[in-house]
Amino acid sequence: MLDLKEKYLSFFKSKGHVIIPSSSVIPENDPTCLFNTAGMQPLIPYLKGAKHPLGTRLVDVQKCFRTNDLDSVGDSYHHTFFDMLFNLSLGDYFKKESISWSFEFLTKILNIPVSKLAVTVFKGNDLVGKDEESASIWKSLGIKEERIAFLGEDDNWWPNMELLGPCGPDTEIFYFRSDEEVPEVFDPSDKRWVEIWNNVFMQYNHLENNTFEPLKNKNVDTGMGVERVTAVLENVDDNYKTSLFKDVIKKIEELSGLSYEDDNNKASMRIIADHYRSVVVICGDDALIKPSNTDQGYVVRRLIRRAIRHARKLNMDVNSDFDLVICKMFIDKLKGTYKELERNEKIILEEISLEKKKFVKSLETGLKEFDKIVSRLSSRVIDASNAFKLYDTYGFPLELTVELAREKGIKVDEEGFKVKFMEHQEKSRQGAAGKFKGGLASTGEMETKYHTATHLLNAALKVVLGDHVHQKGSNITVERMRFDFSHDSKMTSEELKRTEDLVNEYISRSLEVEKLEMNKEEALKMGAEAMFIEKYGDVVTVYKIGDISKELCGGPHVSNTSELGHFKITKEEASSAGVRRIKAILE
Ligand code: ALA
Repeated sequence: MLDLKEKYLSFFKSKGHVIIPSSSVIPENDPTCLFNTAGMQPLIPYLKGAKHPLGTRLVDVQKCFRTNDLDSVGDSYHHTFFDMLFNLSLGDYFKKESISWSFEFLTKILNIPVSKLAVTVFKGNDLVGKDEESASIWKSLGIKEERIAFLGEDDNWWPNMELLGPCGPDTEIFYFRSDEEVPEVFDPSDKRWVEIWNNVFMQYNHLENNTFEPLKNKNVDTGMGVERVTAVLENVDDNYKTSLFKDVIKKIEELSGLSYEDDNNKASMRIIADHYRSVVVICGDDALIKPSNTDQGYVVRRLIRRAIRHARKLNMDVNSDFDLVICKMFIDKLKGTYKELERNEKIILEEISLEKKKFVKSLETGLKEFDKIVSRLSSRVIDASNAFKLYDTYGFPLELTVELAREKGIKVDEEGFKVKFMEHQEKSRQGAAGKFKGGLASTGEMETKYHTATHLLNAALKVVLGDHVHQKGSNITVERMRFDFSHDSKMTSEELKRTEDLVNEYISRSLEVEKLEMNKEEALKMGAEAMFIEKYGDVVTVYKIGDISKELCGGPHVSNTSELGHFKITKEEASSAGVRRIKAILE
């Protein structure tokens, strides 16, 4: 029997879609966002009108990570990492086909009874009217009127009215996940109805000046969570009881000697399973993220520390290799879809083990300190200084303190903590300043220049240091670029100077930047550089800069290197084992 992912891909292939591989879970060249939160995210330039080399109908399984669901993890259907099945129409089909195909897939391919389905549809706002069209398509397919709820922009607009980038009204499909009798009338606030699929009609680009510009194309972007649909297909009312998780939960039961069926243990067991699964995916990505105090690394740290705290709560031996046992199980489960996990297995397990050793020592004393703080409280609020002390001295991420406090019915001065955190951790500013929300990308003129400069730097480093240099990651803001590459030792000042001079020479040669489309083999044959080759489809875009650089890349880039100005390296440092990091500016 085909599994869900295969069924999905082959169904949409039969509707003229081209299968594209998952992108990295870490967005490339997008400083506004720490993680890919949806299938469409790496494809934003195409939603905005760029021509995709593989056509106008695309389908994919994308690894997604959302920190905004972090607090909800512990219930039966929220996750931080999830697999998203998604299909995209780039100015091709619209509501009728999209809705009909979703319906056909659910009821004919997955054999889900119509009687267990309900939908929400957009009720209209200043920009777009009430979506009668979607409602009438649903009715024509057999969804009864009382199973259609019209909701506002909080529910039926994606991503939401605040975030920039492509967006639009959507229609969401719900499944009644319970053995109880299905109510005739759909009540979206009844938790037994679980959202399983979201079809977004992406018609607008939300600009920085807060206007909504109609997109050139009317696109469709749909996303369905593998975890939730697997629960439907396996007829369980809890994602953690599906084949995706149940053996891990069983292992946690064994290691703790406690039962998952006891409601006192459920949330902790789910958090441990969810968080280590995410850590495996993030640390196993080819971007090689490791626990740290900034950006993605800090998210990984928070996940690991929270999981360890819950393991301790379940009386598990946190000094044992319980975490490695769990992570290895997830690597084995996921490596079929994400080959990089196999390749990076050793690194994943090493980093997880190292981080645990760092934290376990201070956890016990930190918990004692926490109890002391609570016993001395004169109000029901832990102040910013104490919360910061727990962070700074005992390595308690804010969320951990908040969670411990919540369990005692106490609050934490979170705003005050953030101020202190900013003051003390200048380096953490980027990570803490709201990027956890998963905003969508906007590429301005300066970012475009820096993007082209990363290709020149990559080429120059190969000349100066050797062909072993490959890009391992990059991050661009309007103010600077950061470039990670494979190289074992610290660069000498002479090497840095030669690299800088060479990039400036490329700039002064006014080299043309050409965009070429070709198939993957041709691109590799012509020696094009590619950071993560698996993620590109069969037809790829190669950016060629004069005769000095050829890289597989989605763009955007300037059209001539003369537009870049003067290039200056501001810092060279270690990033991780075998990876160096350069920061540079264009003046
Ligand atoms: N991008 C849409 C979502 O994530 C489909 O729900």
